[in-house]
Amino acid sequence: MSVNWALPFDEKIVPENKRTLIPIESYQKLHKNTVANYREFWAGVASELDWFKRWDRILDDSNPPFYKWFPGGQLNASYLCLDRHIHTWRKNKLAIIWEGEPTENGAPTKIRKLTYQDLYRDVNRISYVLREKYGIRKGDTIGFYLPMIPEFPIFMLAAARLGACFTVIFSGFSADSLADRLVDADAKLLVTADGGRRRGNLIKLKEVADKASEKAACVKKIIVVRHTGNDVSMNRDRDAFLDDILEETPETVYVEPEPVRSEDPLYILHTSGTTGRPKGQVHDTGGYLTLLHATMRWVFDARDDDVYWCTADIGWVTGHSYIVFGPLMEGMTGLMYEGALEYPEPDRWVSIIERHGVNVLYTSPTAIRSFMKNGEEWVKKHDTSSVRLMHSVGEPINPEAFRWMHRHVGRDKIPFGSTWWMTETGGILVSHTPGLYMVPMKPGTNGLAILGIDADVVDDDGKGQKSLERGYLVIRNPWPGMPLTIHKDPDRYREVYWIKFPGSFYPGDYAVRDDDGYFWILGRADEVIKVAGHRLGTYELESALIQHRAVAEAAAVAVPDKLKGEVPVAFVILRAGQAPSEQLGRELNDWVREKVGPIASLKQIFFVSKLPKTRSAKIMRRVVQAVVAGKPIGDVTTLEDEASVDEVNRAFLDLKQEIESRTASRE
Ligand code: PRX
Repeated sequence: MSVNWALPFDEKIVPENKRTLIPIESYQKLHKNTVANYREFWAGVASELDWFKRWDRILDDSNPPFYKWFPGGQLNASYLCLDRHIHTWRKNKLAIIWEGEPTENGAPTKIRKLTYQDLYRDVNRISYVLREKYGIRKGDTIGFYLPMIPEFPIFMLAAARLGACFTVIFSGFSADSLADRLVDADAKLLVTADGGRRRGNLIKLKEVADKASEKAACVKKIIVVRHTGNDVSMNRDRDAFLDDILEETPETVYVEPEPVRSEDPLYILHTSGTTGRPKGQVHDTGGYLTLLHATMRWVFDARDDDVYWCTADIGWVTGHSYIVFGPLMEGMTGLMYEGALEYPEPDRWVSIIERHGVNVLYTSPTAIRSFMKNGEEWVKKHDTSSVRLMHSVGEPINPEAFRWMHRHVGRDKIPFGSTWWMTETGGILVSHTPGLYMVPMKPGTNGLAILGIDADVVDDDGKGQKSLERGYLVIRNPWPGMPLTIHKDPDRYREVYWIKFPGSFYPGDYAVRDDDGYFWILGRADEVIKVAGHRLGTYELESALIQHRAVAEAAAVAVPDKLKGEVPVAFVILRAGQAPSEQLGRELNDWVREKVGPIASLKQIFFVSKLPKTRSAKIMRRVVQAVVAGKPIGDVTTLEDEASVDEVNRAFLDLKQEIESRTASRE
């Protein structure tokens, strides 16, 4: 059966003017309809993309949970983001407005503007270089370790144009983390820059890349984008500067976009989990782009006269989906900035809004909390009245941050949502969708499951939870944008997401929902820490710590932080002969930052003689967490398998006493 995706709206449920408020019951009816017919519904959305070949089937669900969307279909992401537009009036429209970080206070703002035609030309040239000089073909993977410069999306689109897969590693990651990810993805080429800028500091990316490639033998060549102009060491056989390569490349070349199968991987992006090494989420092409097309319209109300700004870094999934592929596919003008939102002055972000007339803003609770800390007088220095729509992402938004932003930028009236999704989902799944219809906004909630998505809150047994009772978020049906698998580890993909509640996808979040269907996603139900919205696995911190010569055992847990939402603290048992000291604490912190990256900064390290464990030697994290938070242990036992109430209480008191006595002896 094929159904035009406009069908649900022809049911006179959504009035002509999409931004008219509609009653929640109408939405519920519409939503139910799209969930009941989710395949046909998504096929309708997908038919709005330009396919080289239409799919044979909407969904291949013959081998769950390894679903394939639109098998038989062929398309190309770079074609959808570029070629489609340059044959229309959008050719001369701005695709990217880029602002660099000033090197010092008072320096003139560096701005680069690229039209769709400019981007098209540059992507074609880079595709040509990748294919002709580096032999990149469909099936190869390229690693990107880049600062926020226009070359970043250009390289991503160039890889996609050739049908090659890419993997981005956030520029704040260490050499070890970079190497692990490059090896996992089998990247044969790495693209980096001489440096990046942040808060006036030079980030020496090439040095890190050099160190990483010592460990990542798969990387045979490195391309270096000259950006900061600082000296870097170059290995003549392996490395080349992009501008030198481009001198030998024709000014205008055309590279035919390679038709890829809908289920061919577009990219691999690693996420932190509870155990084991970071998981390489493999995203397909057809399903992923379909979800982005839908959400750009429904959530961000993409319009041709908008300047759209997502403040994330392309190193994370938010940047992949909502700086690069989503907005470019919709032919929008997107803003990209380098550096920090509050450098050189706390009003940099508002000055960007004013300078470029930003209409749609997508940012994070951590960013908002730091704006708040600086005070609204910085906001008042600028005219932000162009902003007509805002969303936040990455972590639950606290009511104070919500109210502050809504008042000082949102003039107490514009739509402001908190979109829920994750690296795995590819795009937004729970949100207010002001571009589609307006049901009443419930400030601070994540909004409703978007059309076609059957999200629910369940108890431990997988039964639907009562209204406003806390439970686990689940997604009950496959959706376009879902991962194909975890790279090289399909068993893990099944175990992590599909076993806890068979047949449903388990994201690992706690949630509540009200009678109307609005969600509050409360945060992680597992051992993932969210530092400034970025995912950090306790396992990664612990395995870094135990690699240190002085450490025998380690446990990392999260503590609340006013600015960053959560930050990690560690409990460490030292090896025999090692004595705790402040100096060692500092050394361990530096060590973790070096091994994982600066986002892994430990707020505190507690030296202890033993850690509370269950009989099967699992650390009782909730016990550790309760001690750090200074909370009573309460009814924690239901959450710790195997341990008796007595054991948990004893472990709690032991640890508490040890921490207190150590603190007392220091004072
Ligand atoms: O806990 C949820 C939280 O971020 C996690 C996903 O992290 P990551 O894969 O890094 O992707 C972040 C950006 C898409 C989720 O499991 N999270 C994300 N958005 C929200 C959120 N928690 C509450 N409210 C949100 N809006």
